[in-house]
Amino acid sequence: MAGVGHAQSLAAKRVLLIVGGGIAAYKSLDLVRRLRERGARVRVVMTAAAKEFVTPLAFVSVANEKVYDDLFSAIDEQEVGHIQLSRDADLIVVAPATAHIMARAARGLCDDLATTLLLATDKRVLYAPAMNVRMWLHPATQRNVSTLHGDGAWFVGPNVGDMACGEYGPGRMSEPLEIVEAIETALKQDTRLPAPEGLLARGGALEGLHVVVTSGPTHEPIDPVRYIANRSSGRQGHAIAVAAARAGARVTLVSGPVALSDPPGCEVIHIKSARDMLTAVEATLPADIFIAAAAVADWRIEPARDKIKKGECGAPSLSLVENPDILATVSQGLRRPRLVVGFAAETSDLIRHAQEKLARKGCDLIVANDVSEGTDVFGGATNEAHLVTRSGVEDWPRLRKEDLAERLVARLAQMIRAGATP
Ligand code: C5P
Repeated sequence: MAGVGHAQSLAAKRVLLIVGGGIAAYKSLDLVRRLRERGARVRVVMTAAAKEFVTPLAFVSVANEKVYDDLFSAIDEQEVGHIQLSRDADLIVVAPATAHIMARAARGLCDDLATTLLLATDKRVLYAPAMNVRMWLHPATQRNVSTLHGDGAWFVGPNVGDMACGEYGPGRMSEPLEIVEAIETALKQDTRLPAPEGLLARGGALEGLHVVVTSGPTHEPIDPVRYIANRSSGRQGHAIAVAAARAGARVTLVSGPVALSDPPGCEVIHIKSARDMLTAVEATLPADIFIAAAAVADWRIEPARDKIKKGECGAPSLSLVENPDILATVSQGLRRPRLVVGFAAETSDLIRHAQEKLARKGCDLIVANDVSEGTDVFGGATNEAHLVTRSGVEDWPRLRKEDLAERLVARLAQMIRAGATP
């Protein structure tokens, strides 16, 4: 049956399909058939729960291969072994990916064959989530999805629609042909995860690298007592500096006026104005990574030497001059670090503005966050970010600023290791 009437778009590709325990498991039978029609070799692993929905025999019939389900089977271990099983594949696909299997994978649990393979693999994993709408929208699931994302996993779906349980919303597993398309797209890319040498460096994922971070607001003097500034506590930028230092980097933090103490393990340069910040940043180069988290004032004025007196000639008019764009200057400069990261704080059209900023400033990544009223980002303890690169947008859940910083640093380490900007 394999190959009849179909372009062999997956010829010689090896897919390891992990079937989780959900009603959508029956659709995975069709998925196997479609993959084989396109030339792929499909090995199937079932969780115990999956076998409650579809019998292993059904998968044996469509895959024309033995189905694996037992972590401790001595015979399987002799034939292939669970490590080999996970490494032989070009791609691992989890369909249906239940909330439970993703939760276990996100935590690194390995209490059955499926999750052991997910931990042991050296290849990317494509998840096709399938669950009840509330389970999908639950912050715990979203957190897990986002962790898996950060670990390099890919996702297809879920779709919005009617559920087997009678509810409506996102949670339906993608249709087999949609999953096939996602697999085809995935297999056009490099599906290998970083080599162990890279992972071993994880405790010090930025060891040997110089990271420059800007943080806080800048103050643009109007006269000796007044200034123009942005709302920024510096909490996010400082947390990033701390996370980078913890990851082993040499960190230079160029900070505007903030009420925070200098973070440990970083060289801190204190400045007030945007122009001073630019001078300070340029003096720190060369660097491997530049992260512009400061809320730099876009304009300054030529400050008065003495305090402007009230009522002398009515309200003074301020003639604003544009400040240098530090991010753009560094990003487009001759000593451009390998990875340049900007922030976008917006109150509307967040993603579009971030994408424009990415292109205009020439950086590799924009961390976009919504700072409209009520979000409590300015000065608050948490932040909800969207990572915008030239290849797409990654939505992160609301995180403590420290956690966001850790995660961002881990991501940057991954990008640097991969040797490519996104
Ligand atoms: O243009 P906008 O201020 O919205 O861009 C925000 C990003 O650019 C942030 O990363 C900020 O640190 C950086 N920036 C800068 N110098 C400026 C203005 C913004 O480095 N003058």
